[in-house]
Order: sequence, then structure tokens, then C-alpha cells
Amino acid sequence: MGSEVQGTQTFDKAKRAGLKFSEEAMTTVQTIISHYPDDKRKSALIPVLHIAQAEFGGWLSAETMDYVASIIKIQPIEVFEVASFYSMFHLHPVGKCVFEVCQTSSCWLMGGEDIVKYIGKKLNLKVGETTADGLFTLKVAECLGSCGTAPMLQCGASYHEKLTYEKIDKLIESYRAEGKQKNYTDLDYKNTL
Ligand code: FES
Repeated sequence: MGSEVQGTQTFDKAKRAGLKFSEEAMTTVQTIISHYPDDKRKSALIPVLHIAQAEFGGWLSAETMDYVASIIKIQPIEVFEVASFYSMFHLHPVGKCVFEVCQTSSCWLMGGEDIVKYIGKKLNLKVGETTADGLFTLKVAECLGSCGTAPMLQCGASYHEKLTYEKIDKLIESYRAEGKQKNYTDLDYKNTL
């Protein structure tokens, strides 16, 4: 099957799923893509996936990945390969705030395992689960590059470091009060365009 024909079918599938970036998101996406030559559009994939994840419910469904493929003009499998490799992309529905607790050496030595247990007990969750109110998901992650401030966790674009049970209590309280989705577009993309 020619790639142009397949690209059209992918776009039709995404269209049938009713997916469409908001005007503002589409402008940002097109600006990011315009930074690369036509045959290197795939280089825009990671920032565009962050925007897609933020726009379409905090996770990347097959339809969302197809939609991204149709916009960047690459094959859906190329999107899946990247999205399934990086832990910051979620391939299943998650809560608005995803706690990714580092479990690698420094964090583990500094009590990362106890942090996971504490969050799990407090929110009544096992790793990989989401609270019934759809607000929190608990995950574990490999080294997030903040070993000097272990134990730590990441939630969206924010690092929370030198964690204590008290800090976790406050963090949960403040996210609960805010009730907003946390994602990587919390970073101001416009400053980087
Ligand atoms: S070991 Fe946890 S951030 Fe590196």
C-alpha cells in the first residue's frame, strides 16, 4: 500500500474518532513542525505527542496516535514506537495527576520504596492504579536525573524532591484543591518556539 493512500486512511480514521486539536494547539504544533525540513518532520514527534496527550484526556489512544501520524505525515507505527518507549507517555487512561516515583539506586537508598508504599496507602492505590475520583495515578519510574535530591517523584512538568511523608501530604492536598490535569505542556512551549 502506498504511503499516501495509507496516510489518507489514517487521517480518515482519526477524523471518524472526532479528534481535532484546538486552534491554539494546532498553531503550536504547526510552528514546531515548521522548524524541521520536510523529510525530517518526525523530529517534531515528541513535543507534538506532549500536546496531543494534554489535549485528548491525558493519554494517547490508538486514534490519537493515528491523528498525530496524519499531521506529521509519518506512519502510525512510528508514533507508537516512540510513545511506547517513553514513560512520560501514557497508553491507557490515567488520572489528572500522575505520580511517577523514581525507584533507581539513589532514590531507592533514600527510601523511594517507602514513598511508593506511603502514597499507595494514603490514596488506597497499587502501582499502576488510579483513584476512583480520577485525580491520581501512581506509577514508578527509572532514574529521572535528579539523584542528588533523592527520593523524588515527577508529576507533569514538576519535580518534587527530597520527599518526606509531610511533603507528600501537602502535595496531595494542593493537587486535590487545584483539581487540574498536570502534564508536560505546563512548560511554556511558546518560550521555546
Ligand atoms: S535515582 Fe532517582 S532520580 Fe536518579
